[in-house]
Amino acid sequence: MKANVVYFYVIFCFYAVIISANLFAGPDLKKEDEVIEKKVNELLAQMTVTEKIGQLQQLSYWGEKVPDELAEQIREGRIGSFLNAGDLEIKKELQKIAVKESRLGIPLIFGRDVIHGYRTVFPIPLGQAASWNPAIIEKAAAVAAKEASADGIHWTFAPMIDIARDPRWGRIAETCGEDPFLTSTLGAAMVRGFQGKNLADPQTIAACGKHYVGYGAAEGGRDYNTCNIPERELRDIYLPTFHAAVEAGVATIMSAFNEISGVPASGNEFTLRTVLRDEWGFDGFVVSDWTSMTEMIAHGFCKDNREVALKSMKAGVNMEMVSTTYATELEKLITEGLIPEKLLNESVANILRIKFRLGLFDHPVSDGSRQSEIFHPDFLKLAKQAALQSVVMLKNDNNSLPLSGDKTIAVIGPLADSPVDQMGMWTMDGRSEDTQTPLSAIKEKIGENHVKYAPGLKTSRTVDKAGFEDAVKAAEASDAVVLFLGEEQILSGEAKCRAFLNLPGAQEELVEVVAGTGKPVIVVIMAGRPLTFQHVTEKAGAVLYAWHPGTMGGPALADILFGVVSPSGKLPVTFPRTVGQVPIYYAHKNTGRPPSPSSLGIPMGTPLDPQGFTSKYLDVDFTPEYVFGYGLSYTTFEYSNLKLSAESMPMDGSITVSADITNTGDVKACEIVQLYVRDLFASVTRPVKELKGFQRILLEPGESKTATFTLKTGDLTFHDINMNNVTEPGDFKVWIGPNSKQGLEGGFKVVE
Ligand code: NOJ
Repeated sequence: MKANVVYFYVIFCFYAVIISANLFAGPDLKKEDEVIEKKVNELLAQMTVTEKIGQLQQLSYWGEKVPDELAEQIREGRIGSFLNAGDLEIKKELQKIAVKESRLGIPLIFGRDVIHGYRTVFPIPLGQAASWNPAIIEKAAAVAAKEASADGIHWTFAPMIDIARDPRWGRIAETCGEDPFLTSTLGAAMVRGFQGKNLADPQTIAACGKHYVGYGAAEGGRDYNTCNIPERELRDIYLPTFHAAVEAGVATIMSAFNEISGVPASGNEFTLRTVLRDEWGFDGFVVSDWTSMTEMIAHGFCKDNREVALKSMKAGVNMEMVSTTYATELEKLITEGLIPEKLLNESVANILRIKFRLGLFDHPVSDGSRQSEIFHPDFLKLAKQAALQSVVMLKNDNNSLPLSGDKTIAVIGPLADSPVDQMGMWTMDGRSEDTQTPLSAIKEKIGENHVKYAPGLKTSRTVDKAGFEDAVKAAEASDAVVLFLGEEQILSGEAKCRAFLNLPGAQEELVEVVAGTGKPVIVVIMAGRPLTFQHVTEKAGAVLYAWHPGTMGGPALADILFGVVSPSGKLPVTFPRTVGQVPIYYAHKNTGRPPSPSSLGIPMGTPLDPQGFTSKYLDVDFTPEYVFGYGLSYTTFEYSNLKLSAESMPMDGSITVSADITNTGDVKACEIVQLYVRDLFASVTRPVKELKGFQRILLEPGESKTATFTLKTGDLTFHDINMNNVTEPGDFKVWIGPNSKQGLEGGFKVVE
């Protein structure tokens, strides 16, 4: 090439890069942030102390008319936010008072628990997590944001990114399960889905990472209970999911109800200030949980409201949900010099920053024009996809599934036609009349005359067996039975903890009598937590775990039952054999006396047998019923050819690890390929396995694909004895496999 041609070519490329960068860069968020910061400071400078404190107050409001007293409070600038706040008309009225009639016209921010969908209800978060599919989870959150924002909601109290290792805890339903890596990945996807690329887009809503922090570690699985979490565990297990949410740009964080090793989360300067602000640089705002601030009195951490306000403000809670200690106490505390006004300003600035980022000053409330898009058919398609991918097949002996569509099927069980229950917890805006149940979907799929329906039990909890006779008759008159069992909606969620994990009511007996007919039995369980149901599994040819699958759960299950789609979900949480094993999770430590596989079974040898002195139970196997990451398919997958790009990786370097996965059956299906590592010896003990990557791959029958993962030393860090986040040189094991137990094993070294 001649020199001048080269010159023009270089110039051309240079401008091409500049132009395309400008075309595709989207809004310059950094510049916008500077503009917003200026506006925040200008507004702050005009505010009285009363108005500033007003921004920190969030009230719950359910009424249908705005009472005069409330209107006056808004007019005086004494309220910054509402949660729950009725339908769009009420929100418009409240917002009109704030924007048009208050001195500075600062808009209110309307929050609501839009947890797994708004009107279109997606599977519960634990079910969504079973899809191991961040892309679909992001889309589901975006749909929820579109629907909720059309109704005037600016802010959701989701995602819940607490780590949950105790199925007794009712709120496990609202989590992504037990693993920090999976929860971080999926939680960040939810943040991106709710918030979109630009919060100012009226179709997006602010997200809230909750409950900061350690809420899932409640002793005994009892909600709100004490949590004792040593700092290393806090930093390695409970904090990373929140860090990931902050990195994904989450606008708000909710401080939790629980104490963490003696200091309640809503008065915890270490977690709220040192970690969240100083270490991670979070610049959104922190909202307390519902009266979690005043509950610090019952915790025995504050003696009165004055101390609540003092400790919460010092710790860094910016907005107070429902209780009113900032409103009543803060001004006095500032006047007395116990709280510098600077702290108040910081809280107000954090809140105003998000209000500006949301564009509330330009479009304070939805004009209602997008309400007609709520419950759009495309949203239902996505809800069905999400439900399809969330179902985990736990057993399928002798190809009991899929069923053939030309047979007569008995549809039995309390969850077969229970729209409210299948929506699951936190569905304030879902409607039972929108929900498609398995019964209706199966009828549609194979024709009403091929279906014999008998619920057997009216609800999951009932012990009234009056319906058993009809259930047996239905089974006898059919070729196969599908039993829909599980938990009602009200058995999971906040404060819905259980000391027993069995199927409630007379459900096991129902299975017994139905199986007694000798007809093939398929069991579908819809529940908000891992349950224990060994006796049921023994009597069933196949078991599907469907969680609470939401609005489109019925059609999704019908597609799986009749083989339109293969199940592909994998467990995001370990299933115990019995409640006595809890807490049980795959990433446990090895102990000094790990049980060997031969310690399985009961009895386990004499007390003098050295085998007997290992970390196990006398009366139940130490292993779980189903391991983390487990799930079957209508096809089979073979894993082969594990390859590592190098035997060692230098500090700050990386290696790739790959394996071939072949669909060895005759059905097209998805496999979730999982990457685990173990740090063999370290300065503090490390878990026996940790998830470090996963991929969902679709394979035609006979097709092979290579799953390749990049592992960096930064992926192998943990907190050492001095609480430094380090990767230590040494030997590591690595696995690529279908779950946390099986897989191809390799090894590598990290070298200095
Ligand atoms: C209490 C719950 O713990 C929290 O998750 C929820 O967002 C608030 N109530 C508001 O409803």
